[in-house]
Amino acid sequence: MIQVLSSTQANIKLAAEQIKQNNIVAFPTETVYGLGGSAYSNTAIDKIYQYKNRPLHNPLIAHYASLDHIAEDCIVNDLCKIIYKKFMPGPLTVILKKKNNSHLVPMVSANLPTQGVRVPNHKTALALIHYASLPIAAPSANISNKISPTLPEHVVKSFSKENLILLDDGASTLGLESTIVDISNNKNLTILRHGYITLEDLQSLNIPIVSQKEEKILASGMLKKHYSPNTPLELSCEKLQENDGLLAFGEINFVLPKNVAVYNLSPKKNLQEAAKNLFKALWELDAKGLTRICVMPIPNVGLGMAINEKLQKAAYKE
Ligand code: TXA
Ligand code: MG
Repeated sequence: MIQVLSSTQANIKLAAEQIKQNNIVAFPTETVYGLGGSAYSNTAIDKIYQYKNRPLHNPLIAHYASLDHIAEDCIVNDLCKIIYKKFMPGPLTVILKKKNNSHLVPMVSANLPTQGVRVPNHKTALALIHYASLPIAAPSANISNKISPTLPEHVVKSFSKENLILLDDGASTLGLESTIVDISNNKNLTILRHGYITLEDLQSLNIPIVSQKEEKILASGMLKKHYSPNTPLELSCEKLQENDGLLAFGEINFVLPKNVAVYNLSPKKNLQEAAKNLFKALWELDAKGLTRICVMPIPNVGLGMAINEKLQKAAYKE
């Protein structure tokens, strides 16, 4: 059974003990809630893959408390040092080469020679890593391919029957997963996943940005279908019908049929606000038994790129 605890220092210490004993702890970060376990333990990593029903070829991010700790397991190259100064701790994951004597168990990175690492900018997450004295491997705390968790109740809905602790620290402040960049060649930067750190932010680093190849997406498990509600999501609805849901952005200046459930991500067209509300809106609309969820267009600039990437994956039909 899931045990929900408030994020007091005593409870964080208790949760850290569970991490040390290779058990699972769901914890808050500034992006989304993570499903964490010791990155040095096969037992823990095995549990994470099982609880999430995650394909074994999809690698996990290891969460550290500092760059010095990352350097114990991974090769911290020059690009990493530049990026760390500017954006970390924060909503950014960097892909680095693993060291030969890395303590990370191979399953964390699905046997790849590289590892995704991140330092969350969140007091509870950092305290948990600190008390556990080891890196915490953590994917988002949702069932594989389903909607990401930005509230503790989202985690409870997905894992109510599993044996784990959930550290409750309210809503995630940012609400979108970290941006993922591959800098393992120490020459250029490839964006593997859009997120809170935008393309414009990354361009300010003056590091060459190369585009991502399709084979690479599949190899690293960046699946086409993801973040999906059970209700079909439509990105271009010609016309709304009764019992549809509307995921709105900005002013709604058309007539709505009867029984349309509306969630406005940001009436004032603020992309930060929309990012924060996105997954909460999908969870809420998905629980209403609607025929479809129709999405109003969102500009594909800045944070809008990350929001649209999530929506396209959520709408993807095999
Ligand atoms: O904000 C976040 O990043 C959240 C919080 C909990 O930190 N975590 C998260 O983890 O979103 P997850 O597992 O849902 O997404 C991790 C992504 C996966 O798509 C995986 O393919 C990619 O990171 N990844 C991890 N290691 C990689 C590697 N070595 N090479 C390429 N991609 C990698
Ligand atoms: Mg995820």
